[in-house]
Amino acid sequence: MLITGGTGAIGGHVARWLAGRGAERLVLTSRSGAFAAGVAALAAGLAAAGTTVQVLVATSADAPTSPGCCPGSPPPARR
Ligand SMILES: NC(=O)c1ccc[n+]([C@@H]2O[C@H](COP(=O)([O-])OP(=O)(O)OC[C@H]3O[C@@H](n4cnc5c(N)ncnc54)[C@H](OP(=O)(O)O)[C@@H]3O)[C@@H](O)[C@H]2O)c1
Repeated sequence: MLITGGTGAIGGHVARWLAGRGAERLVLTSRSGAFAAGVAALAAGLAAAGTTVQVLVATSADAPTSPGCCPGSPPPARR
């Protein structure tokens, strides 16, 4: 599952909630990615719950930075 803004306050809560309910894999994206404050502790907690975590840099408003985060996801719609 992909959580955009996943390194933020609400994103972190959602990630922990999903991990607590057995999510196997979570992709957390934000502009800061792995440099976001507190993301190491968040990722460690999710991993301890048995969830595989990827923290990636992706700017939601910038399609080119997004498709690489979810292999197999369809390419962004062309306008
Ligand atoms: N917390 C609340 O009680 C509350 C209540 C109602 C509504 N909201 C709304 O819910 C949203 C999230 O709130 P929050 O408290 O979790 O805020 P937050 O802690 O600042 O988290 C926002 C997350 O989104 C990422 N982000 C921001 N702009 C982005 C962009 N263009 N592309 C990719 N990632 C981006 C941020 O990381 P980077 O800055 O590194 O990109 C961060 O991970 C906000 O829009 C807020 O207004 C929050």
